[in-house]
Amino acid sequence: MTAAGPFLPLHIDLEAATRHRTALAEAGRRLASAGFGERMVCTWFGVPVVSDARHVRGATELSSRSRRGLGGWIALLVGGETVEAQRLGVLGEGELEALTAIGWLRRDGEALTARVSLVPVRGVLVAADRLDDRSSLAVGSPDVSAWNLAASLPRAASLLDVGTGAGTAALLAARGGARVVGTDIDPRALAFARVNALLNGVEATWLEGDLFCDVVGRFEAVAFNAPLARAEMAQSVGATVAPLYLASPRGEGLIIDFLAGARARVSDGGEALLHAQLTPAVDQAAAAAGFARRLEVHFASAPDGTPHALVALREGGPPASARVRVPLGPACPHLGREVIDRLHETVALVASRFLRPQALRAATLRPAPWLELTRSAVHDGGVFRPREVRFGAHRLDGEELALIESCDGRTVGELAPGEALLERVASLAERGLLVV
Ligand SMILES: C[S@@+](CC[C@H](N)C(=O)[O-])C[C@H]1O[C@@H](n2cnc3c(N)ncnc32)[C@H](O)[C@@H]1O
Repeated sequence: MTAAGPFLPLHIDLEAATRHRTALAEAGRRLASAGFGERMVCTWFGVPVVSDARHVRGATELSSRSRRGLGGWIALLVGGETVEAQRLGVLGEGELEALTAIGWLRRDGEALTARVSLVPVRGVLVAADRLDDRSSLAVGSPDVSAWNLAASLPRAASLLDVGTGAGTAALLAARGGARVVGTDIDPRALAFARVNALLNGVEATWLEGDLFCDVVGRFEAVAFNAPLARAEMAQSVGATVAPLYLASPRGEGLIIDFLAGARARVSDGGEALLHAQLTPAVDQAAAAAGFARRLEVHFASAPDGTPHALVALREGGPPASARVRVPLGPACPHLGREVIDRLHETVALVASRFLRPQALRAATLRPAPWLELTRSAVHDGGVFRPREVRFGAHRLDGEELALIESCDGRTVGELAPGEALLERVASLAERGLLVV
């Protein structure tokens, strides 16, 4: 049965979706080949990254955008506008009927409205609740956390996506040919993931339950984009909006349980990726999770200072760990695989310097391309006086700035011939300012 009233939460009709699976896959294929992807969505909204689109809905400058063809689909599915069916094209009657039958589109004569948001992420289409739908139970469409995780997935033959939600990471890995298992405790989130798999024409196994529930075997990659960790916030959000998707009533305990179980699910040489708030207890659990290498990339902080981080835990190789700050901004709108791989490599190189000092001396380090160099000045006595220089979140002294600026392809040994200078370079690399 499909919920019809405007204030009833959308019922995701899996039976109808299965009945219409061919038309759904065709709808996904046709939308994608008409250009319904990140680039066109960004262009339509005038934003640099897709996840910004939700913030500009209703902006007046959008009124001049085309609502025909692809523009009409973007206005309908991303912007949440009502559009006229006859102006859309791209999909045939069969595909429109399938999207209406599963409750994603509502048709009133020629007027079409969407009850889901449909967002393209790196080549897959992800439908989830509309955040502007007052009845929504808020299975969220991909936000910056989903982007951070999805863009950072390793190239792996198998992925276990814990707390898969609408399935973003799982769909992407499946599209890349991986064997994929997605788990979630929320059956509604899983229903979205299942229909999204049909829409994208990919296969995955979906398991409903707590964390690793009925998962069997090991995976080259294990991912978890966790709900909010701090118990007070988790409960207050949970009581009013979305207990499971946004915030778990278990607070940080949920993430600690994930970390305790992750190692047993990761195959040799594999990686676990955790996107979470790093409370001290979560941080400790990450250090004790039994992985050789731990990289914590802090990209933002909660108002109380708790870091939001992507933690990459790797199996194999000599032990190494690092905490690196990569503030998100125009130079780095979200984290990605390049950031994780290059930082992992840098951290391992620097950690090995006592055993293999020649390896560090022979390496070529470069300023991290995802960080911005900013210089500020104060107006004082009629002139501007330099105040500080920052690279990313780090304030640099004169020597550090000179070292960073002189990374022009020379080896570390050439750049920093003496021990003291070498240690300064190592410290810049440990903080992720210089990378291999
Ligand atoms: C922040 S959302 C992430 C969703 C999706 N992976 C993404 O990146 O967009 C957290 C997800 O964890 C799920 N979750 C919460 N508690 C869980 C539990 N105990 N076991 C498994 N999943 C859980 C929620 O239902 C939700 O889908």
